[in-house]
Amino acid sequence: MVSLFRFFVKTIVLPNDDSFNPSCSAPTPRNTNVTIRFMKEDDIDHVHKLIYKGFCEKWEFAYNEKAYEYIKFFSVNRYKGEHSKRNDVLVAEFDNKVLGVCQISVYKPNEKFFTLQLIKHLSNFPLWSMITTITSSGMVTYLKRRDPDEASIELVTVDEKARGLGIGDQLLTKAHDVCRERNMNKVSLIVVLSNVYARRLYERHGYRTLKIHITWKMFLWGTEGCYKMEKKLN
Ligand SMILES: CC(C)(COP(=O)(O)OP(=O)(O)OC[C@H]1O[C@@H](n2cnc3c(N)ncnc32)[C@H](O)[C@@H]1OP(=O)(O)O)[C@@H](O)C(=O)NCCC(=O)NCCS
Repeated sequence: MVSLFRFFVKTIVLPNDDSFNPSCSAPTPRNTNVTIRFMKEDDIDHVHKLIYKGFCEKWEFAYNEKAYEYIKFFSVNRYKGEHSKRNDVLVAEFDNKVLGVCQISVYKPNEKFFTLQLIKHLSNFPLWSMITTITSSGMVTYLKRRDPDEASIELVTVDEKARGLGIGDQLLTKAHDVCRERNMNKVSLIVVLSNVYARRLYERHGYRTLKIHITWKMFLWGTEGCYKMEKKLN
């Protein structure tokens, strides 16, 4: 079903020049006092706030205050309990404060873009938020299709006051180690066209831009398109 989304996106495939070999060694850490570790249940509130500040706050196109409580409820439940996704989430801690989050995902066959839980909560969303959540979640799942040996970076976000200090660097370096330990050979991600800082961060870590996807705003949380980037793990 997710392949239906191909009708709503224009894709430019960039030339794949194998002689171009971006640096694969991670940048030298700039802030050695920061600890990178897996998320614990106690971190849920901090993690949620960082994700909200990093992403949802910018998605005014899709969300408003009324939708916020439902987004919170949904994301808090994601990380609670035995079967939570916490072992896919890394946090950066400094002075007992969580300053950054990075979520990875390893390949899962039959990945669904809607869980029963999300459908249940969607019914409480204002109509426009509901529509854009359905169209954008579907599009993102379509654009992130991947091979069995391919992991993906689902999100990386750093507290506004702590940006530019290398925390994003450290989170990504650790995320790549985790992907290698889980026998992944490559890692991919999508990043919106306007996110210059993030794209620079990924390029520094050896990501190469494979494709440019252009779509309607309602299919990508109010933005016009994204880059698909990939890094080979060695
Ligand atoms: C992208 C992001 C995670 C980078 O985290 P970070 O800890 O600032 O990353 P780094 O310190 O390793 O640096 C990233 C680059 O952006 C620059 N940068 C990032 N934020 C900056 C800021 N607020 N002011 C100045 N420079 C900044 C850094 O100087 C660095 O570039 P350079 O090394 O070429 O000079 C962070 O900007 C962020 O949380 N953005 C909002 C969420 C987001 O867009 N995530 C990516 C989605 S795909």
